[in-house]
This record gives sequence, C-alpha cells and structure tokens, in this order.
Amino acid sequence: MFDLKTYLSGQAEKINAQLDRLLADRPVPLIRAMRHSLIGGGKRIRPVLCLAAAEAVSEGADDAVMRAAGAIEMIHTYSLIHDDLPAMDDDALRRGKPTCHMAFDEATAILAGDALLTLAFQALATLPPEKGMRVIGIIARAAGCEGMIEGQMQDMASEGIVLDVDRLAGMHALKTGALIRAAVQTGALLAGAGEHQLSSLDRYAENIGLAFQVADDLLNVEGDPAILGKAVGTDSNRRKNTYPALLGTARSRSFAESLTDKALDALSFFDHRADPLRAIARYIIDRNR
Ligand code: IPE
Ligand code: IPE
Ligand code: MG
Ligand code: MG
Repeated sequence: MFDLKTYLSGQAEKINAQLDRLLADRPVPLIRAMRHSLIGGGKRIRPVLCLAAAEAVSEGADDAVMRAAGAIEMIHTYSLIHDDLPAMDDDALRRGKPTCHMAFDEATAILAGDALLTLAFQALATLPPEKGMRVIGIIARAAGCEGMIEGQMQDMASEGIVLDVDRLAGMHALKTGALIRAAVQTGALLAGAGEHQLSSLDRYAENIGLAFQVADDLLNVEGDPAILGKAVGTDSNRRKNTYPALLGTARSRSFAESLTDKALDALSFFDHRADPLRAIARYIIDRNR
C-alpha cells in the first residue's frame, strides 16, 4: 500500500541533499542568505511533483530530473523571498524562520532572490541538450512575465479591488499554477513522456495548481501559524483577492475538492506508477501546512 508520508519525506530528503550540493556552503553574506531561505523548512512540493511525474511515465527519476527538480525549488524559493519583501506582502515569518529580509537586510534579500533564480538556470544549463532546451523554455515561460511574475503583479495591483471569480482563477493560475505545471511537465518530459501523456499530466497539474493556491488561501484564514511556519490573517489585512474572501470557506473548500476530482480524472489512463501523483493531489487540499 502506497504511503504518502513516507514517500514525501524520502523524496524531500533526496531533494534537500541535491539543493545542498547545488548551493555549496560558503561564509559570504549572499550565500548565507540564499541558504537561509532555501535549506530547511519548505515542503518541496514542486520538486516532488517533478520526480513523481517522471515516475508516472518511467521506472524512476534520473540525475537530470533531480537537477531540474532542485532548480525549480530554487526558483520557488526566490519567489517567496521577494513575495515577503516590504514592497510586496511584507511578511516577517516564512518556513518557521524570519524571512530573508528580516534575517539579513532588504538589499541582501533582493539579491539572494536574484541569485537563486540565476543559479537555477545555471543548473538547468547542465541538462542533456536535446530535452534540456525545451525544459528551460517551459520553466522560463512559467516563472516569468507570462507566468508567475505576471500573477504576482496582478496580486499586488488588485489589493483592495474585488476581482470576479474568473479573474481570480486567472491570477492564481499564473502566480502559483504556472510553476506547478512546469514542474510536472519537466519531470515527465525528461523521463520520456509522449505528447498524449504530457497533455494528460498538464490537465492534472493545471487543476492541482489552482487547488494549491485555494488551499493556501484557506490556510491563511483557518491555519495554525505554528504549523504553517508563516503568519495567518494577512490576506484579509491586505485586502487580497482570495477564494475565501470571494466565496467563503465552505464553497472554497468544495471548489478545491472539485479541482482535485478533475486532476484525478486526468490520470485515469495511468497505472499504479501515478499513485504518488494521485496521493499528492489529495494532500494538496488536505494539508495543514
Ligand atoms: C507557498 O508555497 C507560496 C505559494 C505559491 C502558495 P508552499 O506552500 O509550497 O511553500 P513551501 O515551499 O512549503 O514553504
Ligand atoms: C505566493 O502567494 C505566490 C508566489 C510566491 C509566487 P502568496 O503570497 O499567497 O503566498 P504566501 O501565503 O505568502 O506563502
Ligand atoms: Mg503574495
Ligand atoms: Mg505572500
């Protein structure tokens, strides 16, 4: 019987070892700040999804998939450092620790974020060229002005303005969904998925990606900061557009469940090797951190 807890901790351990290698310890403030945010604390969902997508279409994740998974986690971590800055969400706690700009200073946090983003592409540049170039394009598009950064821009620009449900879904799909989709596509592509498999996995990822941010919104209302490792109540304080603000918590939860059903449906043609992806889809909306 597949046990998600054991799976997640085993995969996270491999990813943590990979990240430790990718960002070797050095006693300079920039590296210390990068490591402060990157090492320890994160759930590693995006890299785990990358590995699990590879497993769904092959016998397992090889070294190239591991490197790509680590790069995606570095991009995610950079986005958190910048998301927490005073000019953005102005948060003091992240992953159970002071945010990067609180532990260091604002300039160092900005530069640590920039450096993690750049180091990610340095790592991606070591992928085998035939699939690597496509992967770099997918990740760059998802992280940039057609993906996560545009979503962050919409998030900031719409504070205090009430978006309708379609625009909210669009914003969440960009700020959070895009990188999650890229993680799944990357793992599958590097593991040799065919185009039909890729499109089913993308439908899975699109649905869990939105569900992930709906769950994040719900945790900001109902979560326990001691478990979450970050503050709660901040979205309503900043008059952010969120699912609970627009639909209430009960309807948000049932919306997240309907997204999970769609994600699982997209995996119906996959065998037991997609069981980790199935379990992660449920975990995303049931998690307490
Ligand atoms: C938080 O992401 C930010 C969002 C995009 C919702 P995670 O919930 O994956 O944060 P970590 O990586 O576990 O800290
Ligand atoms: C974070 O969204 C999205 C990115 C970092 C791209 P939020 O601002 O809602 O996430 P948390 O709640 O601070 O983790
Ligand atoms: Mg934010
Ligand atoms: Mg935030």
